[in-house]
Amino acid sequence: MAEYTSRKMFEWTEKLESDVLRLKNEEKMTYAAIAKHIGTTSNSVKHKVRRLQQAKGLEKYSHPKEKAELALPILESIRVRKGKPLRTLETHCGFGGMSRVYSQFGSVLGFDIVQDRIDACEASCEQFEGIKQDSEHQLLNLRFEKRKFDIVDVDPYGLPSRYFPHIFGLIDDGYLFLTFPMMGVAQINALTIKHYQVFWGIELSDKDEYIQKIVERLADYAYIEKKKITVEKVIKVDRIYRFVIKVEKIALTKLLGMRINRANS
Ligand SMILES: C[S@@+](CC[C@H](N)C(=O)[O-])C[C@H]1O[C@@H](n2cnc3c(N)ncnc32)[C@H](O)[C@@H]1O
Repeated sequence: MAEYTSRKMFEWTEKLESDVLRLKNEEKMTYAAIAKHIGTTSNSVKHKVRRLQQAKGLEKYSHPKEKAELALPILESIRVRKGKPLRTLETHCGFGGMSRVYSQFGSVLGFDIVQDRIDACEASCEQFEGIKQDSEHQLLNLRFEKRKFDIVDVDPYGLPSRYFPHIFGLIDDGYLFLTFPMMGVAQINALTIKHYQVFWGIELSDKDEYIQKIVERLADYAYIEKKKITVEKVIKVDRIYRFVIKVEKIALTKLLGMRINRANS
C-alpha cells in the first residue's frame, strides 16, 4: 500500500491497472475503497475500470495477437528497406491493440469515433496522434491534402467498402492491412445484397469465390488510384478475413503491359 500512497502525483501504470481490476473483480472492493487504497478519486477508478473492461471485451472481437503476428515481419522488413521511421494511418484504432505495435516503428495517426478509445491509445503509445472523427469522411481530407503513409490499417467491424478507392491514394510504396467480415456476418437483406453487388460484384451464390471477387475488385479500386497491388496473404481469424496488400505507385501503361512506340507519337 505504501507504494501507492507515497506517490506525490497520481499516475496510472500497467501494474496499477491490473491491481485495480483484481481488487474490483476478485476481491469485490468498492470503487471508493479502491480509490482510498491507491490514493485517487472514486470517479477516476470507476472510469478506469470501465475502460479496462471495455478494452478486454473488445479484444475478443479485434484479435490483436493474430493481427500483430501478421504485421510484424512486414513492418520489420519495410522499416529496414526504407531506413527511416514508418508513418502509419489507422482508420479504426480502437483501444490501440495495433497502435502499440505500429508505434514501435514510427508515428501513428489514428481515428476512432469513441473518445475513450483515442484516450486509451494516446495513454499507451508514445508516437500516437489520435483524432475522434469518422474516418470515412476524414479519409477524403487526407486524400485532398495528398498525405502519404507507409502503412494503412482499415479495421472496421463491418464492411470496409466506403474506404475505396481513395484509401489507395494514401500509399505510394507500402502496405494496406484490411479487415473484411466473412460473408453473412452482416445481416443479409436487400441492402446488404445490393451493397455486395455494387461495391464488390458479389452475389449471394458467390460464397466460394468471395475472396477471389474481393481481390479482383481491390485491384480495380487500386487502378483508379494508379496503384498496383499484390495481395500477399489472406488469413481467416474467427469471423473475419485479414488481407495483407502490397501497394506500389506505377505508370498505368506499365501496369497494363503497354508498349509505347515513341516514333509514332
Ligand atoms: C475492430 S475495432 C478496431 C480494433 C483496433 N484496430 C485494434 O487493432 O485493436 C473497430 C473500431 O472502429 C471504431 N469505429 C466505428 N466506426 C468508425 C468510423 N466511421 N470511423 C472511425 N472509427 C470507427 C469503433 O469505435 C471501434 O473502436
